[in-house]
Amino acid sequence: MNDPHLDVVTGAFGFTGRHIAERLLGAGHRVRTLTNHPRQDHPLAGHVEVASLNFAHLPALIASLEGATTLYNTYWIRFPHGGMSYERAIGQSRQLFQAAREAGVERIVHVSVSNPSPSSPLPYFRGKAQVEKALADLGVSYAILRPTVLFGAGAILLNNLAWLLRRSPVFLMPGDGAYRLQPIAVEDVADLAVRAGEGRENIILEAGGPETFSFEELLRIIASLVGTAVAFVHVPPGLALLASRALGPLVRDVVLTPEEMEGLRAGLLVSSGRPAGERLLTDWLAQHRTELGRTWFSELARHYQARKKLSAGG
Ligand SMILES: NC(=O)c1ccc[n+]([C@@H]2O[C@H](COP(=O)([O-])OP(=O)(O)OC[C@H]3O[C@@H](n4cnc5c(N)ncnc54)[C@H](OP(=O)(O)O)[C@@H]3O)[C@@H](O)[C@H]2O)c1
Repeated sequence: MNDPHLDVVTGAFGFTGRHIAERLLGAGHRVRTLTNHPRQDHPLAGHVEVASLNFAHLPALIASLEGATTLYNTYWIRFPHGGMSYERAIGQSRQLFQAAREAGVERIVHVSVSNPSPSSPLPYFRGKAQVEKALADLGVSYAILRPTVLFGAGAILLNNLAWLLRRSPVFLMPGDGAYRLQPIAVEDVADLAVRAGEGRENIILEAGGPETFSFEELLRIIASLVGTAVAFVHVPPGLALLASRALGPLVRDVVLTPEEMEGLRAGLLVSSGRPAGERLLTDWLAQHRTELGRTWFSELARHYQARKKLSAGG
């Protein structure tokens, strides 16, 4: 028997999942999060139930979803690393959906990405299309959200660009810098997700923000807001990638993958629909100019090193 007030959110101690969970809690729901990074120091600790996102044991995965009415799924990987691959993430996403169906979950709200395509040469976007298809074929009512690139406290891309702009007198602009992106606030995505959770119609929502920038225009805005005088030098994308690779060991992270560079340059971070987000990135940047880019936000520290520590501790 489902509890109409119990929802499951993947990654509530992460970025998007946190905002979705906060809204559900605010609406009086109980929230159970599935995560492999439980955190006792997180503001939501003690407010959400915690279970592990356990792909190795299907009955446990099903049990972790039992009683829930809606699953909000944010699970995905940014790039393959340390044994994680897109193929594995696709298979695990399928497993999660099937477990939700077995558990009697009534609705799945799934966070995808703008411009997924089964024929994309980029495995991130191709994999996202495969996961969307698995959900559409599942037989459970669903909503798919397709955000572009997210901004908000904890967002990696904009923060790390600001970090670079603060520290380097020169920024190597890949190509002409004219390719566009249409960032959306994580809060807007969470609002859309929770609203989508209330319906029962199968829907796909294109989720871009209200402002579109060229990459160079956005970087110039950030540079001027954080108060740094940086020279933008246009270079072949391959050279910019080499430089980002050289930076990797210094920040102990994967700075940018070739696929991310290609996706950006192909304009895949622009939505095909009408803007679904309301919050302005320019407002957010102005409000957060003093803290933006002060420290590096590491993808590896968030999703790989912490996991190693956890498993080392059992
Ligand atoms: N961030 C963006 O700019 C952006 C843009 C477009 C679309 N999206 C999509 O939005 C969704 C949420 O993104 P987010 O940035 O908010 O993600 P996130 O909070 O960092 O992670 C979301 C979930 O995926 C799991 N996860 C992430 N990387 C993993 C890895 N390498 N190995 C195992 N598990 C991993 C996390 O597990 P733990 O709970 O164990 O940490 C968490 O459950 C994703 O589907 C992403 O593709 C994001």
